[in-house]
Amino acid sequence: MKLRVVYPGSFDPIHNGHLDIIQRCADHFSQVHIAILQNEEKETLFSVAERLEMIQELVKGYPNCQVSSFQGLLVEYLDQVNANIIVRGLRAVSDFEYEFQMAMMNRHLRPGIETIFMVPAEEYTFVSSRLVKEVARLGGDVSRLVPPLVTEALKKKFRS
Ligand code: PNS
Repeated sequence: MKLRVVYPGSFDPIHNGHLDIIQRCADHFSQVHIAILQNEEKETLFSVAERLEMIQELVKGYPNCQVSSFQGLLVEYLDQVNANIIVRGLRAVSDFEYEFQMAMMNRHLRPGIETIFMVPAEEYTFVSSRLVKEVARLGGDVSRLVPPLVTEALKKKFRS
């Protein structure tokens, strides 16, 4: 069966937990759309163009993955790319409430769309973009939590 999925997120920045989920998606689904939220109201460290460029570079070895950005409702983006499965990563019980609400809201908006949850490798269950940024901003080592190009991009951001 050909399954086309959307893996949405802010990815500000992408970290190894995200990449672990992307790898699992690439292994199990025929097409994976990595969709970066473009939200004018939310201040981000990296611009959409920067996030897009980093993720494109990181997934260039995966022929069934493509990266784009979206504005507005996620379900409308799924309509555009003709997909009906949303993939979200679940790290811990603390993620569940927010994820459950989003899944139910998306089902309310489009009953035909399913949300599925994937669990990253154990070593990434504590990794979040928010904490990665905080540690990097304070000069801590994040090199085992993000790919090298993101480590460099964070250093550049916080130097300037
Ligand atoms: O990485 P994040 O910030 O947890 O990702 C959240 C995201 C992008 C999946 C979510 O904010 C989203 O889908 N935003 C689009 C707006 C939308 O569709 N809202 C209604 C359904 S919750």
